[in-house]
This record gives sequence, structure tokens and C-alpha cells, in this order.
Amino acid sequence: MEQKTNQRIAKISGHLYPSNSQIMEDSSEVMMRANCRAKGGAPGFKVAILGAAGGIGQPLAMLMKMNPLVSVLHLYDVVNSPGVTADISHMDTGAVVRGFLGQPQLESALTGMDLVIIPAGVPRKPGMTRDDLFKINAGIVKTLCEGIAKSCPRAIVNLISNPVNSTVPIAAEVFKKAGIYDPKRLLGVTMLDVVRANTFVAEVLGLDPREVDVPVVGGHAGVTILPLLSQVKPPSSFTQQEIEYLTDRIQNGGTEVVEAKAGTGSATLSMAYAAVKFADACLRGLRGDANVVECSFVSSQVTELPFFATKVRLGRSGAEEVFQLGPLNEYERSWQKAFRRGYHSSRNKMKAVSESVLM
Ligand SMILES: NC(=O)c1ccc[n+]([C@@H]2O[C@H](COP(=O)([O-])OP(=O)(O)OC[C@H]3O[C@@H](n4cnc5c(N)ncnc54)[C@H](O)[C@@H]3O)[C@@H](O)[C@H]2O)c1
Repeated sequence: MEQKTNQRIAKISGHLYPSNSQIMEDSSEVMMRANCRAKGGAPGFKVAILGAAGGIGQPLAMLMKMNPLVSVLHLYDVVNSPGVTADISHMDTGAVVRGFLGQPQLESALTGMDLVIIPAGVPRKPGMTRDDLFKINAGIVKTLCEGIAKSCPRAIVNLISNPVNSTVPIAAEVFKKAGIYDPKRLLGVTMLDVVRANTFVAEVLGLDPREVDVPVVGGHAGVTILPLLSQVKPPSSFTQQEIEYLTDRIQNGGTEVVEAKAGTGSATLSMAYAAVKFADACLRGLRGDANVVECSFVSSQVTELPFFATKVRLGRSGAEEVFQLGPLNEYERSWQKAFRRGYHSSRNKMKAVSESVLM
């Protein structure tokens, strides 16, 4: 009887002590990974967040704990994940939460996951571009992707760490090297650009942002962010002044937040919201829902560039269809030229770093 009570107590508090997780998983009496569901909770997907204790990671973890499609939520970071896990685990929603701390626990954090969301890495400070982050973040993304290749090679990966235009190609190279690369499963998260575009366009049109849909294509840095205002739903027309204001505000939305936060970080709350909106779409796709379409930075044949953000249809195996750009007006075509210049100059700057990281 006493032994049974102790086991039950170990079971309900196990997630608070990540260092015990291996012991717990080795024991058939205590919590097994396969049974890791809240009592009475509906079966759902297993999701890991890597960088879960950060500015984005914490609200992202909270919002994913509220998502009814999630049955198991693994929170991994190199610092502070036990505290975040303890806090979030008290929420009375269906997903079971477990914490993992530091590199030795990366494998346990990833094993069996359906979806891995990566907001790990350093954010921008005023005066920095996203490219300035690459030296540090490329190494972090490489290590985490090696873990994914080993422990959950079939998982869908949502990559948030900046510069997305360069971290996604790094992740692709790591997966290729490991022999598990499936371009459909590697998705760069550009949803925040869409969320911002919907908000700013709704402001100009005097609409509820939930009714507005703005495709944002290209990449996720400055001039590589191309809102297609000619394809806004509901169909709308804008003056040239409105188009220039909106394009500039959407392209520089991230910098607006970095400057307002004055050295304490970049967008975290709106990013967590956008990441959850995108992750939820990926999970609905995995469930087999029809017509799940969102913008994402993926391997692409839409332009001559190897990776490009456009609308994609999300299904059981990730980005199952990559949509063409659709008709562009003259203004949007002129931005495409600026995009190419921005993309190539950033790619050249990143080349040496990429090569040294991937050695
Ligand atoms: N895609 C986008 O639209 C978008 C928007 C905003 C921010 N970002 C990017 O997201 C990243 C995170 O931003 P933030 O504000 O949360 O930063 P943050 O510094 O607050 O948090 C980052 C977290 O990553 C963790 N971390 C560092 N190295 C790690 C590793 N090897 N393994 C696991 N975790 C590790 C840190 O401990 C920290 O908790 C940055 O690169 C930022 O530029 C992307």
C-alpha cells in the first residue's frame, strides 16, 4: 500500500525533477512515456519546445498547454526549465507537461515527438540586424537539429530562431548529413509577419483583424518580407501612400518592438501567439484536416531561390503543397528585386559562418 502511494506521488511530481526522467522512463511501475496523458484527457499530439524558458518559450509553453490538440508537452532549455515546467504544470488543461534541462536530457526531451518548436537562441538588441545573431544561433540550431535527427527524425520542425532565412538552410544541411532530410517537415516560422500584416491592414481598413488575411511571402528579414497587399482578403484597394506605409511597417515591425523594448529583447508575446497559431495549423494538418493553409519559409521551387516563404498546405506529412505567388502588381514585382538583392547579400555574409558551423 505504502509502495503504491509512493509511486503515485513520484508519478505526479516527476515532471518537476527533470534529472529523474530517465529513471522514471526505465521503470515499468511509474510513468511511461506512452502513458503520458492527463487522466481523462483526449489523445493528442506530442510536442517539444526547445528554448522553453526564454522570452518566447515561456508564453509559447503556456499557450501550447492550453491547446486541446496537445497531449504531451516537453519543455527543454539549457537553463530554468524546471521552474517553467513546475509553473505551467499547474494549469488544469489536458496536456501532461514534463521538463528537461541541458544537453544530456535532449534525447529524452525529443524521443517520440510529433512536432518540435525551436525558439532557442539569442534575440536582437537595438542596432542589430537578424543576421548579427547568426554566429551564435547557427550553432544552437545545429546541435538541436542533430538531436531531432537522432531522436525524432519524422517530427515536423517549426524553426523560430533568427535569422530564419539562414537557420532553415542550416537545419536542412544537418538533416541531409544525417540522411533524414524531408523538406516537407522543415518549416521556418514567418507567421509573425502575417499576424502583423493582418493587424496593420485591419487598422487601415477599419476592420476586425480576424476577418483579414494578408499573404506575406519572401523571407523573414527587412526587405525580404513582402506583404502581398494586392491579394488581401477581403478584396481591398489601398492608396499608394497606404501601400508604402503598410509595407514599411510590416517589414520593420520587429525593429519597432526591439527599439521599444530598449535593449531588453525582441518580440516575445506576439511571437508566442504567432508560433502557436502556426503550430496549431501544423497539428490540424497532422490530424488530417483539409485545406489548412498558412505562410511558411520552406524549401521551394516557386522562385530560383532554394528557400522561400509562400502559402503552403499543411497535411499529415508537413508542407504537402507549396503554392505559387499568384498575380503580383508592379509595386510587388519591384520589391521582389530588392528582395533578391537583400537575400543574396545576406547569404554571402552568412556563407563563411554556415561553412564553419557545418564542418
Ligand atoms: N521567427 C520570428 O518571427 C521571430 C520573432 C522574434 C524572435 N525570434 C527569435 O527567436 C529566438 C528567441 O528569442 P527570445 O526572445 O525567446 O530569446 P531569449 O534569450 O529570451 O530566450 C532564448 C532561450 O533559448 C535558450 N537557449 C539558448 N541556447 C540553447 C540551447 N543550446 N538549447 C536550448 N535552449 C537554448 C536560452 O536559455 C533562453 O531560455 C531569437 O533568435 C529571436 O531572434 C524569431
